[in-house]
Amino acid sequence: MRAPAATAAHTQQLLDQVTQFLGHPIPPVLERALRTVPRHLFLPDRIWLGDGQGGYGLCDRAAEPERWLEAAYSDASLVTQFTEGLPSSSASMPSMVVRTLLLAGLDTLPRPLSVAELGTATGFNAALLCALLGDREVTTIELDAALAEAGQSNLRAAGYTPTVVRGDAAGGWWDRAPYDLILATFSVDRIPAAWLAQTVPGGRIITPWNSAWCCYGTLALTTGQDGSAQGRFHSFAAFMPMRRPAAGTPDPAAEDGSPQTATSTLSPWEVAGGNLDAEFHVGLTVPGASFGWDISGDHAPVRLDVVDATGRSWATVDYDGHHSDRFAVTQCGPRRLWNEVTAAHERWQRLGRPSVDQHGLAIDAAGTHTPWVEAAGRKHTL
Ligand SMILES: C[S@@+](CC[C@H](N)C(=O)[O-])C[C@H]1O[C@@H](n2cnc3c(N)ncnc32)[C@H](O)[C@@H]1O
Repeated sequence: MRAPAATAAHTQQLLDQVTQFLGHPIPPVLERALRTVPRHLFLPDRIWLGDGQGGYGLCDRAAEPERWLEAAYSDASLVTQFTEGLPSSSASMPSMVVRTLLLAGLDTLPRPLSVAELGTATGFNAALLCALLGDREVTTIELDAALAEAGQSNLRAAGYTPTVVRGDAAGGWWDRAPYDLILATFSVDRIPAAWLAQTVPGGRIITPWNSAWCCYGTLALTTGQDGSAQGRFHSFAAFMPMRRPAAGTPDPAAEDGSPQTATSTLSPWEVAGGNLDAEFHVGLTVPGASFGWDISGDHAPVRLDVVDATGRSWATVDYDGHHSDRFAVTQCGPRRLWNEVTAAHERWQRLGRPSVDQHGLAIDAAGTHTPWVEAAGRKHTL
């Protein structure tokens, strides 16, 4: 069966959904780009749609051509690849793509403007950048060889010829540097030195953010004259984390000392129950700490497991099913992780429970990252 063709109505549906999500009209220059680049040309035949409950359902173009096309022109992130059971590549949600382009100033900045897009995947975002800036200004980098090839072939089929590089975008791409703009489409917990070195002074680095604790927020940095940069976090989007070429993993069995127990008055739900502002603050200020809920019933009825990146320090926080004002805590290793989390949460409360948007980051010429938060009209270094 021949697949149905995308129509003007499909494009209009996408534009309407994006406009509704943004809450304001799409600036004309971006609307033109979205009308020019047909999203379905960038999607593989098999895509996975979120089921709203954290799972994904397959949509196969051959079996469900109408549904596949409908998905292509809906304001949704579409997973295009899984690795070890987890999504490892996707076509980003169009409204998030537009928000990122707006954050980069692509609706107003003077041309020419050279950009490195990090994380090619389908090539859709790279095509929008080509439509906005011209193919010669766009370099796009993808770690995964098969995805880089597919992305390049999608771009060619749609009539775009940016420079497509297969490689680890943590190192940027010196051959075409410097860039006016570096735009990552995966999240990081640190700005790689190469990104700072490859951006012109006064240029922009836009990247989704993650910490081991919380994958959320988008950082918009402006670079200084001396390799420094500073900017703010913005309260949108959880993007998949940057992948790195395979390396050794920490040994979770190696732990230091004997476990110590205590009682905590901080509820684990306060810092791991979905309050993104609190979780973002903890993630920014307690480096390397991550959490998982243990609902197996082995630790009645619920336990929060906290561990650091080395696996040597850990903490558990137990809810006994009755008391919401005291919790049993066990900690082990060189770091007292729950004490660190508690101190971060106390600071967040003291500062008036700042939102993600009140946070920012300064990076000096030596690459030292210093987060800050703006509260009560003043900047507080964290
Ligand atoms: C959310 S997808 C990007 C969406 C894409 N820009 C689009 O328009 O469809 C993230 C992509 O980043 C890639 N990626 C992750 N880590 C990377 C790295 N270190 N270097 C280059 N690409 C990377 C992933 O393989 C994945 O394809």
